[in-house]
Amino acid sequence: MFVSKEEITHIALRMMRNMENPFKYWRVVEEDDFCNRKKELAELLKLMHSGGRAFMYSERRYGKTSLVKLALAKLPKQKYVSVYIDLWKTDSDASFITTVAKAYSEALSTNVQKAVETAKRLFSHLKPSITLDDQGNPTISFGITHSTRLDPEIDEILAAPQKIASSGKRVVIVFDEFQQILMYGRDDIERQLRSVIQHQKNISYIFLGSRKHVVREMFLKGSRPLYRSATQLPLGSICEEDWQPFIHERFRRTEKKISSKLIHSLIELTQGHPFYTQYLCNVAWEFCKPHGEVHEEMLQQALQTVLEKEHYTYTLLWESLTRNQQRFLRSLAIEEKNAKPFSSEFLQRYRLGSASSAQRVIRSLLDRDLVDHENGSYIILDRFLRLWLRNINNE
Ligand SMILES: Nc1ncnc2c1ncn2[C@@H]1O[C@H](COP(=O)(O)OP(=O)(O)O)[C@@H](O)[C@H]1O
Ligand SMILES: [Mg+2]
Repeated sequence: MFVSKEEITHIALRMMRNMENPFKYWRVVEEDDFCNRKKELAELLKLMHSGGRAFMYSERRYGKTSLVKLALAKLPKQKYVSVYIDLWKTDSDASFITTVAKAYSEALSTNVQKAVETAKRLFSHLKPSITLDDQGNPTISFGITHSTRLDPEIDEILAAPQKIASSGKRVVIVFDEFQQILMYGRDDIERQLRSVIQHQKNISYIFLGSRKHVVREMFLKGSRPLYRSATQLPLGSICEEDWQPFIHERFRRTEKKISSKLIHSLIELTQGHPFYTQYLCNVAWEFCKPHGEVHEEMLQQALQTVLEKEHYTYTLLWESLTRNQQRFLRSLAIEEKNAKPFSSEFLQRYRLGSASSAQRVIRSLLDRDLVDHENGSYIILDRFLRLWLRNINNE
């Protein structure tokens, strides 16, 4: 039988894809690797189409960035200009200004030279130029100093979307890790943003935030500048009914197997958290031989491998905690969902002292992003830390 060169390439590509681990946990996932989120995607797109404003919040690594990037990719290019801005590395008004200016300039240009021209058109205060980045590639930079008062620069930055919209296109702006602006030490950006976005038309703003309690407060507390300026879009967890077919299909596609019962156990371990679920599936898949099936011990082996990898980090973290913080975290790890941490029974069982000292401990753990509030109780954010804590002996 004659097999064409194209067919051979096609078969080889398929085989390679089959060999590749189908569980992705180290980067933003693309459409093929998405488990559900259909409703949330439709909601986001509707908002973007209508020039709406929303703040989407969830725990870290729950899929906000992946989801919003997928929505942006679905906007027709001839009608929309979209700008995705990651504020994660910003720590001051100055770094906010340069990060946002760079994002706007690059979104409207096909190369660095053009980005500089765009920046000159949009901003009269920022002195754009071409410099080399850490890898030696040309990039756009701005000549502002960190010490000067930056009100005119902030005004220009915040007015830029309206200028961009004057081309007739609709504009969608995404600020990822938006809670970062609280680290700048002043609330001038928050205040100015409020007054600017009230008057802008056809411009959609999506604010993403990873520290749930902090972002909620920014938009839902009466005394805050952005109070009620955007719709809430909490991003929930992915439920087991969605994970079951997703995980089955990826094992099947790569000619391996896993039972529904084991998927159930795996989801219990990760509490269905997208990142930890993909991570544990990834390691379990590696342990499974070609054409084989995952069994109970394999899943335990996968879990031990992950915990061993994190052991050093978790040990350092553990040693940095006070006795009461340790007790509290461990009690949350041992308890099933919906523990009542301020009930006298809970306080006594785990020797946590008074309710007010437990409040203080919780506050400190919230501040360190180790726990978060959920359904009237608390959860440990790092699901593998939760499992590691179950294994250690504390007194
Ligand atoms: N819808 C999804 N389906 C499957 N896995 C997902 C999904 N969303 C997120 N993930 C997993 O979570 C990881 C973190 O996603 P990311 O979008 O970076 O989250 P966030 O922006 O909330 O921190 C991804 O690398 C992927 O492993
Ligand atoms: Mg993100």
